[in-house]
Amino acid sequence: MSFPKVRLRRLRRTETLRRMRRETRLSRDDLVLPLFVVEGSGVREPVASMPGVFRHSVDALPSEVKSIHDLGIPAVILFGIPEAKDARGSGADAPDGIVQRAVEAAKRAEPDLCVITDVCLCEYTDHGHCGVLDGEHVANDASVERLAATALSHARAGADVVAPSDMMDGRVGAIRDALDGGGFEEVPILSYAAKFASAYYGPFRDAAESAPAFGDRRAYQMDAPNAREALREMQLDLDEGADVLMVKPALPYLDVLAEARRRFDVPLAAYHVSGEYAMIQAAAERGWIDGERAMAEALLAIKRAGADWILSYAAREIAPTL
Ligand code: PBG
Ligand code: ZN
Repeated sequence: MSFPKVRLRRLRRTETLRRMRRETRLSRDDLVLPLFVVEGSGVREPVASMPGVFRHSVDALPSEVKSIHDLGIPAVILFGIPEAKDARGSGADAPDGIVQRAVEAAKRAEPDLCVITDVCLCEYTDHGHCGVLDGEHVANDASVERLAATALSHARAGADVVAPSDMMDGRVGAIRDALDGGGFEEVPILSYAAKFASAYYGPFRDAAESAPAFGDRRAYQMDAPNAREALREMQLDLDEGADVLMVKPALPYLDVLAEARRRFDVPLAAYHVSGEYAMIQAAAERGWIDGERAMAEALLAIKRAGADWILSYAAREIAPTL
């Protein structure tokens, strides 16, 4: 059957019919809000390249996470910016490190909020790479050891979920072993499984002070043209024991996300990253785009493509509209 018997516009006629016809709905339950934590007290400093995003000190977190929880957002992901950096990223697994103290403060203030920690070394190394160096090469296996120790220290501090974002080979398995060995069999791993070397991380690197001092991340993060390789990364992380698989960035890699949705019966996450967020905010500031609608459309697209968890800097603004 086709036109004139079939008229798809019939179910678009009124707002109520459109509401009933909707195939996908964004929900507060889908959202994870990234938070940047810095040293100091009483700090709430704006990130210049990410309007609406702030860096908070640990003492400012309790009120912050309470308001996030009150908005119905189930989870945050924490990024720490330490005062001191060194070659091995010692701050990453320090028991009294910035993220460890932030996790404790957040969980004490709002026990029901799910606190996820980003597990990486780039915020803690003086060279800004995601692992430890051997000359100018990021050494895989030595980095994996540091990452496993970091994940374990996050779990000890009370993290509900750990999320390795470094893209070293074998890190999910090593983190699983470290967690299980430390008595944290119940802490899930959200793996940044298909993380691409992307221009869209620019604003984040300002916020987290984690830009590499030399070179770039192409020798460990994925090459943009490769969708089949991305699915292989995801399968490997599943085999190593990942509980949730992430694709990052989100919109430029929706094909990867959609194919992963068809292939894997596990929860999927997608990260609408700093550059994706900043582009919409910048155009909206100039009056070139309706920022709220564009942001909602972007996050809905990520949901439609198959994401269960959506990491978004706009979670706070969008939650009340859902
Ligand atoms: C750390 C990390 C990065 C992001 C999340 N974790 C930066 C990077 O890999 O350079 C990017 C997040 C964003 O751009 O919003 N490895
Ligand atoms: Zn990193």
